[in-house]
Formats: sequence, structure tokens, C-alpha cells
Amino acid sequence: MAVKASTRKIDRLPNHVAIVPDGNGRWAERRGWSRLQGHRAGAENMHRMIQYLNEYPIKYLTLYSFSSENWGRPESEVSGLFELLLEVINSYLQEIHEKNIKIRHIGRLESLPEELQEAITRAAMLTENNTQLTLNIALNYGGRPEIVDAARRLVTDGIKPEDITEETFSNYLYTAGLPDVDLLIRTGDETRLSNFLLWQTAYSEYHFTKVLWPDFRKKDLHRALLSYSQRKRRFGGL
Ligand code: IPE
Ligand code: MG
Repeated sequence: MAVKASTRKIDRLPNHVAIVPDGNGRWAERRGWSRLQGHRAGAENMHRMIQYLNEYPIKYLTLYSFSSENWGRPESEVSGLFELLLEVINSYLQEIHEKNIKIRHIGRLESLPEELQEAITRAAMLTENNTQLTLNIALNYGGRPEIVDAARRLVTDGIKPEDITEETFSNYLYTAGLPDVDLLIRTGDETRLSNFLLWQTAYSEYHFTKVLWPDFRKKDLHRALLSYSQRKRRFGGL
């Protein structure tokens, strides 16, 4: 008898999982609801996903919450998203802290609303010494702006060209000190990277699913992890 994917045991887990949670808008539209209601359902699902991930011995989770391109959406959607993110951080911060999860922000903080900047900074400071899971929130993040920012800082710091190695360059990215992404999951039936973690996903495994983000549950995560465990990673070797 076939064993159900949701109960099959995983023998090799990724160390760093990154998620592009796509499909909030379509999820809401199918119900005749506003896009913001979809984002709310998506934010609730991020909360669920943090709990699920925390049940596995996975050390790093990076969530794409707002991309540098998302500024191109209608002003009401952008401000609604920021309000929602602020609300989510405020309501879950204590619980996240109690679960020994460390929060870190990646992206350009300075152009975000001040209140949101403060909430992110407070969350990072409060959880700084936590050790269970590192949760990276990519907020106003873009892979190309990240590389440009790194190059600017290398120049500002007067780093000599011959001293620029892949390792030094990595240390100038927002993700300095974090390992590369092992598994990238994208929901919502789109098979592209959308400027997410360009440098860090050079050798990642990708898992694309049609499931819309607000519907992505523990069994879907398990399926993604199972598929990852069955792949052979060669990193360009044999
Ligand atoms: C992803 O859902 C959430 C964010 C980008 C913040 P979308 O808003 O892109 O949902 P669709 O793609 O329109 O369904
Ligand atoms: Mg989308």
C-alpha cells in the first residue's frame, strides 16, 4: 500500500528554507473578498508556518514579506500591507520570543514607515540572543538592491579589489552570517524567483506549488521537505 506523503519520514532536512508566499490576492478574489483580506489570511498563515517550521530541526527560515517591486502596487494596498505587518509583529512578538526564535530583518529599512521600522528594530533587539530558529523577514527587500548596497559598502569601507572574494562579498550582503538557502518554496503557481535572494539561491533546490499561500499547510510543507530530501545535490560536481 502506498504510504501517504504527509506521513512519510524525512531523512535529510534543509538547514535554510526560504519562502515566496504568493497567491494572497487570488485567494481573496476567488471568495469575492478584498486583496487586503487575502493578505490578512496570508499573514495568519505565516504565523502558522513559523510554528510548523519550528517543529523541525531547521535553523533558518526566510520569508519574502514585501519586495522592492511591491511599491508599484496601489497606494492603499501598500499602506494596508504595512499596517498589517505592524499589527502582526506587535501581536506575535512575545510568543515568538518565548519560542526562542530570533528575528532578523533583511532589506532596506529606511524607506519603510517609521513605526514599522521601530517595530522591526525592537523585535530584532528583543530576540537577538534566541537560538532555536532564525526568522529572517525580507521586507522592502530586493536581490539586486542588496547586491548594489553591498558593492557600495565595500567601496565606502575602502576594501581593495584583490581582497574581494565570494566570502567577503557575502559578508556585505544583508544576509551576512547566514548560510545559503537550501530549499526555496514558492506558492501560487508561479515559477520565478522575483528578485529574491539572488546570490543566496545559486545552488538551492526549488519547490513550486499551485497551492495559494493562505491555503499552504503543514502537509504541503511536509511534501516540499520530502521532495527536497529525495534530491541529489551535486553543487556542480558529479
Ligand atoms: C503575495 O500575494 C503577497 C505579497 C506580495 C505581499 P499576491 O498579492 O502577489 O497575490 P496574487 O499573486 O495577486 O494572487
Ligand atoms: Mg503575486
